[in-house]
Amino acid sequence: MSAAQPDTLVAVRIGNAGGVVVGIGQNEMFIASDIPAILEYTRKLVFLESRQMAVVTRAGYFVQTLDKTPVDAAIHEIAWDAVSAARGEYRHFMQKEIFEQGRSLTDTIRGRIDFESGCVTLPDVPLTPEEALRLKRLVTVACGTSAYSGLVGKFLIEKLARIPVEVDYGSEYRYRDPILDSDCAVLAITQSGETVDTLAAMEEAREKGARLWSIVNAIGSQAMRTANGYITMQAGPEIGVASTKAFTASVVDQYLLGLYLGQLRGTLSQAENVEHASALAKLPDLVGKVLDQAPKVAALARKLFHYSDFLYLGRGINYPIALEGALKLKEISYIHAEGYPAGEMKHGPIALIDESMPVLAIAIKDSVYDKMISQIEQAKARRGVVIAIATEGDEFIATKADHVLYVPDVPPLLSPILTVIPLQLLAYYIAVERGCDVDQPRNLAKSVTVE
Ligand code: G6P
Repeated sequence: MSAAQPDTLVAVRIGNAGGVVVGIGQNEMFIASDIPAILEYTRKLVFLESRQMAVVTRAGYFVQTLDKTPVDAAIHEIAWDAVSAARGEYRHFMQKEIFEQGRSLTDTIRGRIDFESGCVTLPDVPLTPEEALRLKRLVTVACGTSAYSGLVGKFLIEKLARIPVEVDYGSEYRYRDPILDSDCAVLAITQSGETVDTLAAMEEAREKGARLWSIVNAIGSQAMRTANGYITMQAGPEIGVASTKAFTASVVDQYLLGLYLGQLRGTLSQAENVEHASALAKLPDLVGKVLDQAPKVAALARKLFHYSDFLYLGRGINYPIALEGALKLKEISYIHAEGYPAGEMKHGPIALIDESMPVLAIAIKDSVYDKMISQIEQAKARRGVVIAIATEGDEFIATKADHVLYVPDVPPLLSPILTVIPLQLLAYYIAVERGCDVDQPRNLAKSVTVE
């Protein structure tokens, strides 16, 4: 801005981390670092590339490079409906977004899988069977909730496509001189598509010649535009700072990616494809069944909200859910919470357990069920208050834990999508009981576009 030209704003983008969006309104213009900030005012957007500048006045704008070559920048029309971002009947956006998950997952799955043949199509991730077979490794980079989604995805993609998957935080990956080549694919998971650490990790991957994919919710975001291939979450706008529906949608996207890669690489039989497809088709309904238990979770929150430390335990594919459950609680209720792989409890956290430390144990009927029961017994022996997330019909666990929240029985690979929901609800209701600002928790931002 310059006092000499009070009606003009100049926006410049340098480098590929951190975006600049110019919004075109009627007799008004906008500049932002992320799309949702201006979506309420306009859906006509122009994105600057590196070393481009926009000169914006109330009446219009032009784009040029820093050495003054004019640029004919494309105008993108964003389809998100600002109305669908309204809170409607809900008290908070986060509550609305938790309850939207049945619908958002239907949208995520729709059109991408043929339920008769089990065949997955991801047209925006172009790949030949030869290229898929050449892939030696997949590296997932992400931050926050998206990173925990990536940890679930590691189990899914390794199991379905038999490709080793490594998961790292964007903020770590960019600084560790990673080993990559053209037989590696780097998958960035980001709800906003604008998280600077994730974008910087993508940049690192591009420079090292890896294939670059992204899973994004924000259509037209930088992580979508700069990748060689992308899968959208189809979750619709997520407004609450604590991410919920983007988590489950991105896990389902990784399930689809695992099936897609598995089909191209021939690691899945026809019968297995059909089985996975039919399990996915049932998922949104089952999510609805978990959400029906919200009043029970709210009642439990009233018993737990005064505690100041929580331990979340899980194993295998539900270990990342312990991390995500603990993250949700700390983000919005400011209660100290730790997620741990249950088998590690004896190497430290057990020293903390007494009657003032509730223990959340994800103990569904899978191959590590007996081990989880023994962890619950150990926590009880130290007078811990145990809340179990268990499989419907498991009455035995009710004799071990103080409180049980049930989820329907699903194939283990899909279980994280159900077990995370009671934990989202619990964090939400505890934060409400404590009078916290659920949608705008202190010190946090929805998209972190600076380092
Ligand atoms: C912030 C948000 C989190 C989010 C993380 C990554 O910390 O508060 O909810 O998980 O950024 O965001 P992204 O948009 O990259 O998924």
